[in-house]
Amino acid sequence: MADRSTGHTVLLVYGTRPEAIKMAPVVHELRRTRSLRPVLAVTGQHRTMLDQVNNLFGLVPDYDLEILQHRQSLSGVTTRALGGLEAVMAEVRPDAVVVQGDTTTAFTGALAAFYQNVPVMHLEAGLRTDDPMSPFPEEINRRLTAQLAELHLAPTPSARANLLAEGIRPESVLVTGNTVIDALLHVAAAPPPDDPLLAEVRRLAGLDEPAEVGRRQIVLVTAHRRESWGEPLAQVGAALARLATERPELLVVLPVHRNPAVREAVLPPIAGLPNVLVADPVDYSAFTHLMAAATVIVTDSGGVQEEAPSLGKPVLVLRENTERPEGVRAGTTRLVGTDTERIVAAVGQLLDDPVAYAAMAEAVNPYGDGQAASRAVAAIEHRLCGTPAPDPFIPGARAINIPLRIPHQPTYSEVIAPGTSAVLAEQTAAGASARFKEAGA
Ligand code: UD1
Ligand code: UDP
Repeated sequence: MADRSTGHTVLLVYGTRPEAIKMAPVVHELRRTRSLRPVLAVTGQHRTMLDQVNNLFGLVPDYDLEILQHRQSLSGVTTRALGGLEAVMAEVRPDAVVVQGDTTTAFTGALAAFYQNVPVMHLEAGLRTDDPMSPFPEEINRRLTAQLAELHLAPTPSARANLLAEGIRPESVLVTGNTVIDALLHVAAAPPPDDPLLAEVRRLAGLDEPAEVGRRQIVLVTAHRRESWGEPLAQVGAALARLATERPELLVVLPVHRNPAVREAVLPPIAGLPNVLVADPVDYSAFTHLMAAATVIVTDSGGVQEEAPSLGKPVLVLRENTERPEGVRAGTTRLVGTDTERIVAAVGQLLDDPVAYAAMAEAVNPYGDGQAASRAVAAIEHRLCGTPAPDPFIPGARAINIPLRIPHQPTYSEVIAPGTSAVLAEQTAAGASARFKEAGA
């Protein structure tokens, strides 16, 4: 139970990997205040993928509902989280509840708080695609959360505009930037972690060799969206297989989501391919360095769409729409959907055409400047304690440098010399099979 002797109690509710990454900077910033006391409640909607982030950022939950079940249903997650959070809130009696984004944990956290008449503060508010079914169920989760929230912490001016268009009061919205950029800067400032996948990618791609020796191009891939389960993800797998087969010098790296539905669809087409590295999810620090090492990133992840532009990496998005239009406008992100031919063509163009590549590889920071958490906490403090309101984030007002120590490898001319793919075949097949564990294991 929280110590109620001083200040206001702010209960932070989260449950999945991306929520933890984006909540971590806020927790650290809350701890720096005198007036606000953070209490952490995780639903455990994710387990290992959540624990990886908590460990990395030194977050120790005060409450853990441990709701994860193998192949869990949306209703199951909702009911277990809602019931558990009701009990937590009854005990903690928070002055405010903070939820992040659009997961089912976020929505149930907001609903449980609303039922107990506790103000809801929504981090990463206002993202919209305008298609209720895509992403599913996130578009509806975030719309419903907006209805329940009193304070809307919008990452960008576009997100704020979406909220105002829905009739949300302007004085309840602050543009903060996305706290994922705060998290990215935090891990970038630390030395690269000792991670087996990162080490293997560095070695196979020749990243630690002098540039004139030649480096292999790397395509880094993540995919998990529920609306893509089945045939769309199988098409993604087929595209990766085509790319890897037609380009034996290419290295495809896939830290695959733990969801068995994802693995069943995406893995069969790439099984046994020597230049495809399949691994369990890596921790956020290792993944950040993998992004920095990648030539091209192919993903349906929201967080990766936000991070990659800051690293100057082209992103091909495995969706037909996105709630993150800023990267598309900046030219670093392109929607390619899940059609095999379209993915192969789009990746191939970036790998082969330096001009097309350069057009997408400019480092821009439309999503944040590393100060989002301090703005969010200042806004919460303003709300609860009457301190002055913070100024909003203005994109482009301040450039940031991401100091990752991994060589950039943008052009076709750096591709490895012919004749080395046999070595890759041997090393990669052994490494991948040793590392990969079955879903749900
Ligand atoms: C969830 C969120 C999605 C978010 C994504 C981030 C919902 C409805 N979905 O989707 O918005 O983008 O997280 O990754 O809130 N599993 C494990 N261990 C883990 C994590 C997952 O084994 O650490 C497996 C379990 O079998 C679980 C399944 O993955 O049943 C699905 O997890 P779930 O949280 O329901 O859905 P995600 O697709 O991860
Ligand atoms: N990520 C990670 N390890 C991985 C793959 C991704 O730490 O093996 C990070 C990634 O940098 C991003 C976040 O996880 O910050 C995205 O999570 P996910 O794709 O699961 O969810 P989404 O952002 O789509 O909600």
